[in-house]
Amino acid sequence: MANFMWTPVLCILFISASSSALQNKVTNNPADELVSSINNNRTASKSSSLYSNPGLACLALQYIKAYKGDCSSVGGTNAKRPADSEFTESFAPNCGVEVSTLSPITGRLLACQSKYVEPSVAFSDILMKNARSVEIVQSKNHSEVGAAVSGSDGGGPYFWCVLFSNGKSNNSFVLEGNVTKISRPGCFSGANDECSGAVALFRSFRLWSIGVTGLVIALAL
Ligand SMILES: *[C@@H]1O[C@H](CO)[C@@H](O)[C@H](O)[C@H]1NC(C)=O
Ligand SMILES: *[C@@H]1O[C@H](CO)[C@@H](O)[C@H](O)[C@H]1NC(C)=O
Ligand SMILES: *[C@@H]1O[C@H](CO)[C@@H](O)[C@H](O)[C@H]1NC(C)=O
Ligand SMILES: *[C@@H]1O[C@H](CO)[C@@H](O)[C@H](O)[C@H]1NC(C)=O
Repeated sequence: MANFMWTPVLCILFISASSSALQNKVTNNPADELVSSINNNRTASKSSSLYSNPGLACLALQYIKAYKGDCSSVGGTNAKRPADSEFTESFAPNCGVEVSTLSPITGRLLACQSKYVEPSVAFSDILMKNARSVEIVQSKNHSEVGAAVSGSDGGGPYFWCVLFSNGKSNNSFVLEGNVTKISRPGCFSGANDECSGAVALFRSFRLWSIGVTGLVIALAL
């Protein structure tokens, strides 16, 4: 089995008062759009573009699901994170990722917000609003990336998760039989999966606000 080496986790709790926006973009998958924002920012800052690995991205969606829609365990004093063993015991099997090909995770970003925003906004107003996450996005430690976004039953809160790895693109997070297991609700990157808007992200579409305004950012190890 791959040797796991976890770097510090970065968790961002973001509660947005901004208006919601659901728009279909070119790729029709918000997770792919987030990866593209990350890679654009990296190449502009002279870091390499990262391989968009669908197996790693599927794990990112499982990572979100482990929170069961509970924003309050993403950051702050009640912060929780899935145990490392969950990668081998449940995330990889659920995704059809061969456990022997799990590779070290070199960075992770997690954000939760009450309302859905476009991926470019999630990138610039959530991820890049924090020095540590800019460092993680632009780090030379990574070679590949996987992103996922999901609402919860009936709408918000919405979770964004980005996992980075230094695995080799052709032999890390390999999907059994080369088949991507798509599961809804939620979208993940790298799988050529059209996953647009309300239907895919949320089982039934209903916007609600958890009644908090402002921006909260929390860092946790
Ligand atoms: C990348 O993100 C950083 C931090 O927000 C920003 O200063 C920089 O302008 C961005 N670069 C590009 C090309 O978007
Ligand atoms: C890159 O890896 C080194 C060595 O493991 C670590 O000290 C450093 O914090 C990492 N950089 C980022 C941005 O995570
Ligand atoms: C993966 O890529 C490396 C380097 O690019 C190469 O040496 C190796 O043979 C490749 N493995 C497979 C299974 O294609
Ligand atoms: C797996 O799928 C990719 C993308 O469709 C393809 O390029 C690759 O050759 C496939 N690999 C195997 C072993 O079937």
